[in-house]
Amino acid sequence: MRSLCVMRGDGIGKEVIPGAVTVLQAVIPDLNLIEADAGWHAFEQTGHSVPSQTLTLLRECGAGLFGAVQSPTHKVDGYRSAILTMRQELQLYGNIRPIITLPQVSPKPNIDMIVVRENSEGLYIGDETSDGDTAVARRVITRTASDRIAALTASICNRLNREHVTIAHKANVLPLTDGLFRDVVRARLAADCDAKVAELLADVAALKMVGEPERFDVLVTTNLFGDILSDAAAHWGGGLGYAPSINIGDSCAVAEPVHGSAPDIAGQGLANPIAAVLSAALLAEYVWDDLAAAQKIRRAVNTVLTQTNPLPKTNVTRTIGDLLLAAL
Ligand code: IPM
Ligand code: MN
Repeated sequence: MRSLCVMRGDGIGKEVIPGAVTVLQAVIPDLNLIEADAGWHAFEQTGHSVPSQTLTLLRECGAGLFGAVQSPTHKVDGYRSAILTMRQELQLYGNIRPIITLPQVSPKPNIDMIVVRENSEGLYIGDETSDGDTAVARRVITRTASDRIAALTASICNRLNREHVTIAHKANVLPLTDGLFRDVVRARLAADCDAKVAELLADVAALKMVGEPERFDVLVTTNLFGDILSDAAAHWGGGLGYAPSINIGDSCAVAEPVHGSAPDIAGQGLANPIAAVLSAALLAEYVWDDLAAAQKIRRAVNTVLTQTNPLPKTNVTRTIGDLLLAAL
């Protein structure tokens, strides 16, 4: 039986996750659901943003759905963002963020890209030092992590018959780190898939992401560039309210909407659940190998966005959730 560890997290995560779970249950009725704590709220209660019990449940289930995390902007001793903790503890080394044109909400037609973000290293190792005048952050790129993100990219291209992969990097400025990333990714893609491979400097990739987003097919890049480029890309899918993601490792995966906890609208029923619903679809596709379930969910999203104009402005979470269930 398929098991899912459900972590609502903070803010609007508490609102959008229940809706996403209901949709997922409608297409996978025998899903075994286990609720667990994670986020700022969990940190305040237990001293850990992801309590060890939650990590154990995630390992047992092999799949998690996480809502959103509220993070303090100042340094709080002992605190590390829940999603960063999960990525690190569970070795979720790849972050897959598909962006497609959706009816009504996307500003442009014909967009269908997948951003594959290296999720385990780069600047995200969080190794900072400061003497008060000079602050230093280490940025680590390894052959191992570059090769496994490339292998994941190749497997996605092969399964989905994707034709073009773009590697985004800054090897012109960082020839040792980004040069290594670029060379290792190129070699693995050449060996493992038939897709045509091109490379772009990350700043040029950003320009093209703004000007010609429909030209991207699969984009693979390092951690921070992937963070930034995937937010820019999300604009074309209708914005963060529609952007799903899944963090993948060899034995566990955690899906999460790309949006944050949105404290400004939390608790008012105004959050759009579609990013969370589409993240749930990624679990079906990438963890349970159930493309049929994923497609049912995506078709329902398409139907609702095609037929509901204008979209609701009040009672959004509930209304869209009900419309999705009716469209399934
Ligand atoms: C994301 C988020 C996270 C990141 C934050 C919440 C730490 O922006 O998943 O893209 O920077 O990776
Ligand atoms: Mn981000």
